[in-house]
Amino acid sequence: MKMWSGRFRQPLDPEFEKWQRSFPYDRRLLPFELAASRAHANALKIAGILSAAELSEILKGLETIGRRAESSAEFLKDDEAEDVHHFVEKQLAGLIGDVGYKLHTGRSRNEQIATDLRLFVRQSIDALRNLIGEWVEAILLRAESAGNAAMPAYTHLQPAEPVLVAHWLLAYVEMFLRDASRLADCRKRANLCPLGSGAVAGATLAIDRQAMAAELGFDEPTANSIDATSDRDFAIEFVGALSLLALHLSRWAEEMILFSTPAYGFVELPEAYSTGSSAMPQKKNPDLLELVRGKAARVMGCAFTLQTLIKGLPLAYNKDLQETQEAVFDASDTVSSILPLVTGFMKTVQFNDAKMNEAARSGFMNAWAAAAYLVGRGVPSRLAHEAVGKAVALAVERGCDLQTLPLADLRLIHASFDAGFRSCLELSQVLALHDVPGGTAPLQVKRALQNARERVEKMAASFHGRDLSG
Ligand code: ARG
Repeated sequence: MKMWSGRFRQPLDPEFEKWQRSFPYDRRLLPFELAASRAHANALKIAGILSAAELSEILKGLETIGRRAESSAEFLKDDEAEDVHHFVEKQLAGLIGDVGYKLHTGRSRNEQIATDLRLFVRQSIDALRNLIGEWVEAILLRAESAGNAAMPAYTHLQPAEPVLVAHWLLAYVEMFLRDASRLADCRKRANLCPLGSGAVAGATLAIDRQAMAAELGFDEPTANSIDATSDRDFAIEFVGALSLLALHLSRWAEEMILFSTPAYGFVELPEAYSTGSSAMPQKKNPDLLELVRGKAARVMGCAFTLQTLIKGLPLAYNKDLQETQEAVFDASDTVSSILPLVTGFMKTVQFNDAKMNEAARSGFMNAWAAAAYLVGRGVPSRLAHEAVGKAVALAVERGCDLQTLPLADLRLIHASFDAGFRSCLELSQVLALHDVPGGTAPLQVKRALQNARERVEKMAASFHGRDLSG
């Protein structure tokens, strides 16, 4: 029996009927639909709609549906069910007869889907934060073991200044910690319970909304029934946070790809995460990294889908909202599948310290340190910049480094160059110069590593004991 057939005299066009169903994808919401239905049934008992015996029958029926779904995939192959809500009603009536139809008393699918989707997002956030925790841990471990290895840092993709490898890796730790905190933040706003909102104006019977919210682990009931049934901000925020996370993963992948090319040679691709070319025998291709970069586009597309989908909708529920589900699932699945793989990659990838160090010493990346040296000797910054610029031009002309320019030639450019100049150009001196919190001086990086470690541990501790379903 359909959930709405009374008003209709003609059957649906079969093609349309098939096309409009959401069950093929929203059946994954079944555990949440069952949990929300249990909470509603309990509230119906308190409201005096269900007797104790009816409640018990309904709860047992819901449990059986859950068990059957877990034990057989076949059970979820139902060509008639319009959506997961209809599926449960159908199954329940099949199991316990007409009492099953009492479950829908005073509720609407509009509040149900809003509730199920919030529960899905909440569970997904908890699982994703765990995965991000492992990913960040893998990056941090590499940073902690990088010691004083140095590499070039780039601006405009041109060699800019040398940095510690640990400093570079910590940049990613920051990005992904922010992503995790964005998800935690989104969780707070998502964790409100729409049950009791009805179709749009609120339930038609005095139902204990607090009790339903508490049973489902929500912080409290939503405040407005119109908003609760039509709001999908939580989904937009969630997928928005995922699209930023995917974007960060994509930037990381791009750098890894670049650094693994022979031109850089900083990174040796792990064979376990690379593939060969069917044509060129010498190739080892960074497929994992390329797909991470490619899949970021897909997640960002999901964020765009959601925003576009909702921007023109009048309040409150519109069937367009059914289209939110696949974008939410796809973004969540895509990012969930990437994180364990990049974590594995990060654990096994080899850094070529010698190449990185060599590159950190070349490319005139000590030019700013050279200018700082002159500034230290009282030369105004702009003039120091100009003088070092001229020294660089001279070195380029002669095909040498700043360090190897004869002092006599340097003094022709500016009288403040003297014998101490060369030592300030040493890699260790250049690194130590950036001695501010957040800078790359080894002491600062050591502190930054400790600080990152504390935050990563704190995040990991917040997962312990959390029941992912509630
Ligand atoms: N499958 C629907 C969805 O995902 C459930 C809500 C249907 N509500 C309605 N008034 N037809 O949006």
